[in-house]
Amino acid sequence: MKLGSFPHGFKALVIGASGGIGAAFVDALQAQENCAVVDGLHRNSSPSLDLSDETSIANAAQCMASRGPFHLIINAAGILHTADFMPEKKLGDLYFPQMQATFQANTFGPAMLLRYFTPLLAKDRAVMAMLSAKVGSIEDNRLGGWYSYRASKAALNMLVKTAAIELKRTQVNTVLFALHPGTVDTRLSAPFRGASIGRPPALAASEMLAVIDKLRPEQSGNFYTYDGKQLPW
Ligand SMILES: NC(=O)c1ccc[n+]([C@@H]2O[C@H](COP(=O)([O-])OP(=O)(O)OC[C@H]3O[C@@H](n4cnc5c(N)ncnc54)[C@H](OP(=O)(O)O)[C@@H]3O)[C@@H](O)[C@H]2O)c1
Repeated sequence: MKLGSFPHGFKALVIGASGGIGAAFVDALQAQENCAVVDGLHRNSSPSLDLSDETSIANAAQCMASRGPFHLIINAAGILHTADFMPEKKLGDLYFPQMQATFQANTFGPAMLLRYFTPLLAKDRAVMAMLSAKVGSIEDNRLGGWYSYRASKAALNMLVKTAAIELKRTQVNTVLFALHPGTVDTRLSAPFRGASIGRPPALAASEMLAVIDKLRPEQSGNFYTYDGKQLPW
């Protein structure tokens, strides 16, 4: 699969490059003939980027500025569970530290990525993809549960939509969108039968890159799945 909508020698940046999907994006982009630079950032990269620390985000953006401008930026970071918590099943499970950690990684940190990294996007052709989740769709919520994760992704989607409206005025060639990867076999999905029902990360990355390749500025500010279908908010 060739990313034909991107110029020869294009530059890509993957945030959350240490994750299952993030690492697969790095590999897939490195295999692209027309891609000259694939940079990856994560909590242990140099520079490091921690989504719960605004200073680290600002510093990473400043360090990366001279490597850009980037034609493609993908944020593949996010959390559903940690060693300290699992997604809530009922209201009685709600607990502040879980909500705070989830919103920092899935919402507030990505908001700061929008602030500090959109100025690093190329002016001719640029896509910024924010990995979201279908369970963040308010309209599609039928099962309930997973309060913090659902709400953090719904709020992320609002930030993406709002920033896309601003960028339509200031960076007219930019496509900014929320992207649902489908169920993928990674650490995140492991406790939920990810190994049996999830797609391999390499397949998911190549499907999502095919979606990214097709998107044009008129489609900025929307929510798409890995197979190119538009999701309701
Ligand atoms: N896998 C699925 O089935 C699925 C389904 C729907 C949506 N998604 C979304 O897809 C994205 C990627 O998930 P994945 O499946 O690849 O999960 P993963 O393998 O667990 O990777 C998650 C990534 O997020 C990073 N991260 C977590 N907290 C961070 C923080 N505070 N600062 C910086 N980086 C942080 C992790 O870094 P460390 O390596 O340092 O921990 C890792 O790079 C997430 O946004 C997730 O919500 C996944």
